[in-house]
Amino acid sequence: MIYLDHNATSPVRGEVVPLITPYFTEFIGNPSSVHGSGRAARKGLDEARRKLAQLVDVHESQIIFTSGGTEANNLALMGVALQANFNGHLITSAIEHPSILAMCDLLEQRGVAVTRIGVDSQGVVDLNALEEAMTPETFLVSVMHANNETGVIQPIQQIAQRCRQAQVIFHSDTVQSVGKLPVTLEGVGADMISLSAHKFGGPKGVGALVINNRLALSSMLLGGGQERNRRAGTENLPGIVGFGAACQLVGSNQRKEYERLLGLRNQLEADLSNLLPELIVFGNETERLPNTTLVGVAGLDGETLVMNMDLAGFAISAGSACGSGRTQASPVLAAMGYDGAVGQSAVRISLGWSSQREDINRFAPVFARTVKRLQQMSAPLTMAV
Ligand SMILES: Cc1ncc(COP(=O)(O)O)c(C=O)c1O
Repeated sequence: MIYLDHNATSPVRGEVVPLITPYFTEFIGNPSSVHGSGRAARKGLDEARRKLAQLVDVHESQIIFTSGGTEANNLALMGVALQANFNGHLITSAIEHPSILAMCDLLEQRGVAVTRIGVDSQGVVDLNALEEAMTPETFLVSVMHANNETGVIQPIQQIAQRCRQAQVIFHSDTVQSVGKLPVTLEGVGADMISLSAHKFGGPKGVGALVINNRLALSSMLLGGGQERNRRAGTENLPGIVGFGAACQLVGSNQRKEYERLLGLRNQLEADLSNLLPELIVFGNETERLPNTTLVGVAGLDGETLVMNMDLAGFAISAGSACGSGRTQASPVLAAMGYDGAVGQSAVRISLGWSSQREDINRFAPVFARTVKRLQQMSAPLTMAV
């Protein structure tokens, strides 16, 4: 199997695994315990926090470890909305991850006014719409750094600047950009950013919300005083240690890995476009993550293509969602104006640390052959006379 679905999850990096295992066998204490076992566990927790703090250039006290990107996103929105007593106005975009959009739906039901701003045909959020949406009641803006389906990078520095002017809290979901771009809290210009370890070679089920310490944030999980009273519950120590190790690995090689992935992705798109001149590459006229390509061929069904590629030994994913038996264009593509025959055909190929040139060389011809076979199968039959 050739794995080309790193935006869904990246395999844990080989260097990370042996660093985690002692936290199941040797360092078995609770980091909050005062005895030697507890202190050894605390040391692992502190070191991991230091490594993450270094990657995103913050003080260790600014990190709240969570169970992943979903919880970090939920906490960012709910934590601020609780402080505001569910009064006021929140702005987000139509292309956010469901962990933002579903939380916005809940907050709306609780009384928060929510505006979901749209994107252009390249998948870039509309800054004019943001400007128009801002009101004196706006207390929070949440716009992702890079989209998980298209890889399109959003103009977050401009959004951050506008939020600063208006004294509005700005949160950015950087789950897809950390590990693929150099991301720091200050560079993004946000008050809060969300991270997830499993998107860049760390374990699943661990992430963080990194915040500006001046920000008042209510906790969602109540109980013990962990994470400076901002997220109760005994820490997922093996996961956090693996997260820290992945942060260190990413930080040591960012520029070279960016160039390597970009080279592979550009070769992939060039090969596919040569073999399939009708191929659409979504968002390719704007800045994207170096590892992501979302492509489509009008009339094909993305889900069917993904299943056929799986049988051929390649893991990719569909950019479309299948609901009640009918494949629909994803909300992201629908927001970009692609519905129907083009939107439903989209498939995402996302590269990562384990991807090699050989993977691309093998993938492109099989993909093109599969597309052509599916096209022939779905072509209307012509009757011989
Ligand atoms: C942009 C984005 N945000 C948030 C998440 C959720 O992260 P996690 O899987 O760690 O909950 C994902 C994962 O798919 C994502 O792509």
